[in-house]
Amino acid sequence: MKRSDKRIFLATATMHGEEEKYIKEAFDTNWVTTVGKNIDEVERLVAEYMGMKYAVGLSCGTSALHLATKLAGEKLYGQAKPNEGTLAGHRVFASDMTFDASINPIAYEDGEAIFLDTEYDTWNTDPKALEKAIEMYPDVKLLVMVHLYGTPGKIEEIKDICDKHGILIVEDACESLGAKYKYKGEWMETGRFGDYGCISFNGNKIITGSAGGMFLTDNKDDADKVRKWSTQSRENAFWYQHEEVGYNYRMSNIIAGIIRGQMPYLDEHIRRKTEIYNRYKEGLKGLPVHVNPYDEEKSVPNFWLSCMIIDEEAMCKQVRDDHKALYIHEKGKSCPTEILEKLEECNMEGRPIWKPMHAQPIYRTNKFVTAKGNGRGQSNAYIDRGKAQDVGMDIFTRGLCLPSDIKMTAEQQDMVIATIKECFE
Ligand SMILES: Cc1ncc(COP(=O)(O)O)c(C=O)c1O
Repeated sequence: MKRSDKRIFLATATMHGEEEKYIKEAFDTNWVTTVGKNIDEVERLVAEYMGMKYAVGLSCGTSALHLATKLAGEKLYGQAKPNEGTLAGHRVFASDMTFDASINPIAYEDGEAIFLDTEYDTWNTDPKALEKAIEMYPDVKLLVMVHLYGTPGKIEEIKDICDKHGILIVEDACESLGAKYKYKGEWMETGRFGDYGCISFNGNKIITGSAGGMFLTDNKDDADKVRKWSTQSRENAFWYQHEEVGYNYRMSNIIAGIIRGQMPYLDEHIRRKTEIYNRYKEGLKGLPVHVNPYDEEKSVPNFWLSCMIIDEEAMCKQVRDDHKALYIHEKGKSCPTEILEKLEECNMEGRPIWKPMHAQPIYRTNKFVTAKGNGRGQSNAYIDRGKAQDVGMDIFTRGLCLPSDIKMTAEQQDMVIATIKECFE
């Protein structure tokens, strides 16, 4: 195996120089705070790119998701007491295979997440699991849904089901800025489909401000409310006056300067990520693996992270507990643990698939619904029902994220592909 001299990263910031100009502008004009031209401009640029009316700059994607989830709770169940979340006593449907920042806001707001299983076509929420969950829990009126790794989920189907049942959607587009889906014949950006959209400018995202996030909406009242909550819920008074609980969630004008310098490069970044994905697709041909799938007719991902999944019959033995993993190498076979270990030995950064939420210790007692119904407690020592359906855990077991850094050269990517090939020898 050939070790790379330079580390090959999963996904890091790709800077272009203009970012510094806008940071300097903030320094020169002394707007080193959470107000300023960079914030105004970034909000304008993102709203324009998304084709939406309002984008509110926040400290991170998590704060956007929190305020979106809180807003949905308030809309559905009314204003909560200061010491209670807006979802207290209520259940919320949520994507299962995601980063925990998508769904922790449900807990911040005292709600209980019901996790919906994933589907193989896009590695996102299975519309059939959503339909099953509605049959089982007809009182639920909110869905938090992600587009993982920059691949749009089946948002048209999901939105139609939600509209039919009066379910609001918080759309987590934190990883999928610039990814598109064909909705009723019209191409639209992910982040535009939900009642509230959220994006992230975290250091590893396709456009970064080192941190930062945005709340997206077409509703002025909602935008105003999130803006107010994000700045400690100050009232229009001469002194600090508060009628609602507030947060210090506003975007910094320095961070906004970085994002402002990055935004013109979004399409270029997507082009590079697409090239990387297609190169993996081509380069891994002949191995018993597939790259992460997407709907080629109805979606254009931003390909933020390229991933792969090993065919079931080509998996060597692998066991994982809550912290560690072991495998036994077999000729012609491999597993994510082996590949990630070998990549690391070669100075290349991969990562396991995001572990499904229903299997996380913190959420192990939450309900989990698959396309077949209740996903918990289906095994029985005395009755052989075959393998329990759990698509998310299957993808987690057999899949992994590959180095997808925009600055990775073709030669470096070839080395990654060669390392993966050697794992199957
Ligand atoms: C799917 C998803 N949701 C939410 C977040 C949270 O965004 P942030 O890190 O900006 O808070 C991230 C990434 O960090 C993410 O990948």
